Amino acid sequence: MCGIVGYIGKKCNLKKVLIDDLKTLEYRGYDSSGIAIFDGNMKIIKAKGKIKNLEESLKKIDIKNSELGIAHTRWATHGEANDINSHPHRVGCVTLVHNGIIENYVELKDDLIKKGYHFVSDTDTEVVSALLDDIKKKEKDNIKAINKLTLVLEGSYALGIIFDDDYEHLYAIKKDSPLIVGICDDCNLIASDVTAIIEHTKNYMLMNDYEIVRLSKDKVEVFDKNLKIIQKEILEVSWDINQAKKNGFSHFMLKEIHDEPTVLKNTISEYIKDVHTLVNKMPNFSKYNKIHIVACGSAMHAGLVGKSIVEEYANIPVTVELASEYRYKKNFYDKKTLVIFISQSGETADTIAALRNVKADKIDTLAIVNVVGSTIAREADQVLYIRAGVEIAVATTKAYMLQVAMLILVALNIAYVNKSMDVEEINKILKEFKKLPKFVDEIIAREKECFKVAKEISNQEDVFFLGRGVDYALSMEGSLKLKEISYIHSEAYPAGELKHGTISLIENGTIVVGIMSNDKLAPKLLSNIKETVARGAKILIITTDNLNMEFDFDCHKFVINKVHNILQPILIVVPLQLIAFEVARQRGCDIDKPRNLAKSVTVE
Ligand code: F6R
Repeated sequence: MCGIVGYIGKKCNLKKVLIDDLKTLEYRGYDSSGIAIFDGNMKIIKAKGKIKNLEESLKKIDIKNSELGIAHTRWATHGEANDINSHPHRVGCVTLVHNGIIENYVELKDDLIKKGYHFVSDTDTEVVSALLDDIKKKEKDNIKAINKLTLVLEGSYALGIIFDDDYEHLYAIKKDSPLIVGICDDCNLIASDVTAIIEHTKNYMLMNDYEIVRLSKDKVEVFDKNLKIIQKEILEVSWDINQAKKNGFSHFMLKEIHDEPTVLKNTISEYIKDVHTLVNKMPNFSKYNKIHIVACGSAMHAGLVGKSIVEEYANIPVTVELASEYRYKKNFYDKKTLVIFISQSGETADTIAALRNVKADKIDTLAIVNVVGSTIAREADQVLYIRAGVEIAVATTKAYMLQVAMLILVALNIAYVNKSMDVEEINKILKEFKKLPKFVDEIIAREKECFKVAKEISNQEDVFFLGRGVDYALSMEGSLKLKEISYIHSEAYPAGELKHGTISLIENGTIVVGIMSNDKLAPKLLSNIKETVARGAKILIITTDNLNMEFDFDCHKFVINKVHNILQPILIVVPLQLIAFEVARQRGCDIDKPRNLAKSVTVE
């Protein structure tokens, strides 16, 4: 979490440049922000809350056009969100911004206090600044000083550093937190991700752990761990700046839901021509008899949909685990196990740690990732990119849909390899897959219907989502979407389990959302729904047109096209996303930046 950005180059209105760049990183954290600009003097301005507060504060401060600056948007880890704890932190000759967590900062701080340093904030970052200042007392060479710093720091960091003895350069280093370098004709930049540099350039370098970069106005030098200068590949951002804009939508979340038909079409069209194309474009799955799926949050929910369909159609066992648990537990795998890591950002700390453990055990890994060149994408043995484009809203929508789509393709591929489905049926499904973008589009066109239902939910305190089988996995995503952006308490339950305890929470007026797409399980789900009706629940049912069930109780029904069961989750999730969005809108919530959250969870 946290976003950092730094600029060195042609003299400009750096306040504006850094604020504009920082705003593109606000999804990474928005508890507070700050900026340090050298305009002959080092000026540091910080503000609690969103970047617009910093922008307001900056209006009152006179900063001359300048060539060097760093900025930060914070997701608080050490110490509350206030001005003092905000970055940049300046101690002695060092001013820096930091994304990550320093695990041994307490010991380091004690040592530094003994040496006479005083600390004003509660942060680990101020300790890093002091430590580097202390190192600088003996080590005048800035590259060597940064290198020495890495020998002492434990934890994760991407640091943007300005030294008082060298305003001709901007320095940066990373370990376990993302850092890229943007290369332009009239400036060079550092940032947590490419969205921050895209206004300036499409050319960038991906930094590896412990590489140190020294940027001047017209030069970028990268040093490896042994302080040798190395040549890095210059990459090109493949997407357009417009993808990072709302393009007329009120919110990024709504825009990203509206992106779904297009990105779904673009991604699947590469694979679905016929079964041979599918098999040729994907890794070879023939050696595996077991799959583990490891991820966090919505990506884990996509994994649960994947489990349901891979087991059903490809006939091999799948376990789905939260990365934060998997990384610390005993796992049972062997050479015939494939471990799949799912991540939109490719930078989620727990997922990275789990991936590294599995790789250390020499087990095969596959990443299903959105962000090209991200850590998980680079470190897994194989990668399937979902190519959802930039996702800015903290709550994932289009990336979740494409994670599910990719897992369906994986399931079909394994089903072919295992001969658990015949080729004709797979080809039939692939043909139907082509129609899905249009169906998604049609559901989005009915957003007003979803918005009407949302009205019923928006004044509730508790909402329950019920499903069975794959519909339970979808319930979990529907429930998470609702609670994370609307702050309404919500639970997802496998419908048959309700009566073993949770049904005691159902009372007059409680909203229950039943997801009913699975033909075989629909009657069972209906019985469970009726049990809640008998206790006063108000019901919304999301179902498919083939089921055509008559209900002998009042309810809202949202009916979508029936497609092959394996494809159905892609359509079911759309009304869930739209309802959550509208509930949050009606409650006046900050939909794209829900409280306490950040898009990229780079801390444990
Ligand atoms: C919820 C959401 C999160 C992420 C989770 C994993 O809407 O977006 O639950 O799914 O933080 O993030 P990634 O996919 O980047 O690993």
